[in-house]
Amino acid sequence: MSDIILGIESSCDDTSAAVIEDGVLLSNVIASQEVHKAYGGVVPELASRAHELNIVPVVSEALSRAGVTPADLSAIAFTRGPGLLGSLLVGTSFAKAMGLALDIPIIDVNHLQGHILAEFIRQKGVEPREPSFPYLCLLVSGGNSQIVRVDNPLHYQILGQTIDDAVGEAFDKCSKMLGLGYPGGPVIDALAKNGDPLRFKFAKPHIPGLDYSFSGVKTSLLYFVRDELARDPDFLEKNKEDLCASFQKTLVDILLDKLVKAVRQTGITEVTAGGGVSANSALRERLETEGRKRGWNVYLPERKFTTDNAAMIAIAGYYHYLAGERTSLDAAPVSRLADF
Ligand code: KG4
Repeated sequence: MSDIILGIESSCDDTSAAVIEDGVLLSNVIASQEVHKAYGGVVPELASRAHELNIVPVVSEALSRAGVTPADLSAIAFTRGPGLLGSLLVGTSFAKAMGLALDIPIIDVNHLQGHILAEFIRQKGVEPREPSFPYLCLLVSGGNSQIVRVDNPLHYQILGQTIDDAVGEAFDKCSKMLGLGYPGGPVIDALAKNGDPLRFKFAKPHIPGLDYSFSGVKTSLLYFVRDELARDPDFLEKNKEDLCASFQKTLVDILLDKLVKAVRQTGITEVTAGGGVSANSALRERLETEGRKRGWNVYLPERKFTTDNAAMIAIAGYYHYLAGERTSLDAAPVSRLADF
């Protein structure tokens, strides 16, 4: 009999449900929440309310696209954290109620582990290309910037992480301050395509070890633009493409400097990326070219699996399921990684 896992993701502003059968994806449905656009960032209370509205239709759509009924499910995997508490509560409570009603196990998943394992989502008709263990994952999203050593699907170790803002936050905050739109990453990525990445230079941090810092470079861009605007009120309008390209290049340089160091220190040349920022064109291109130059094997998730999605939660849950892990019904969601 096959193992059919329903995955549920509700950690931030996307409500998602996915079904996998023996590790192969049958469906992945994502309802993004447009309500936050007007505020230039995610409003937690609005996010939880939207999850409440979305969760039932999203789960039933995922089941129907997969061609399975609730009775076919072997287990339900859900994101327990880290993330927004109110949002996580919706997915967690839903998973518990459904698990209880169907009398099947529930399995809690760390959201970050989902991103780390996104490479292992198998799809029908797509030749799998998966890293071998151990590998390094550059995990870059709106809430995290980490270099993670992954020894097997269930064991990983954070080698370095941001000491302040996440790289996605740097994209989002700068885009917001410059009036370019939200979320900032895709906007800056698109504008940068027509810009000169070498035109402007921004301060890079000097942080020891494998940790990151992104708040200084963000401030450097904002002060620079403020000073230029005082001289020429049209500065931003005239230079936004070059500004975006130069800013994006600086962020990618910072990410790569530490990744190169991590490869050198560990001797691990299997390299993956995950999280929303791993959709960034400049970052993907640079990972490919560095990989070719340095003899790394680079694996990049398809763009649809970089941002929050339940397929990655289902695959992570599947590995926990195979290992015999089950979650008790009194498990509570956690907002911080440290509490996991
Ligand atoms: O993993 P994710 O969907 O969720 C959370 O962190 O919760 O990542 C979202 C982040 C946002 O900061 C967004 O601006 C960024 O990923 N992002 C990008 C791109 N697409 C999404 N950043 C740079 N370039 C992109 N193309």
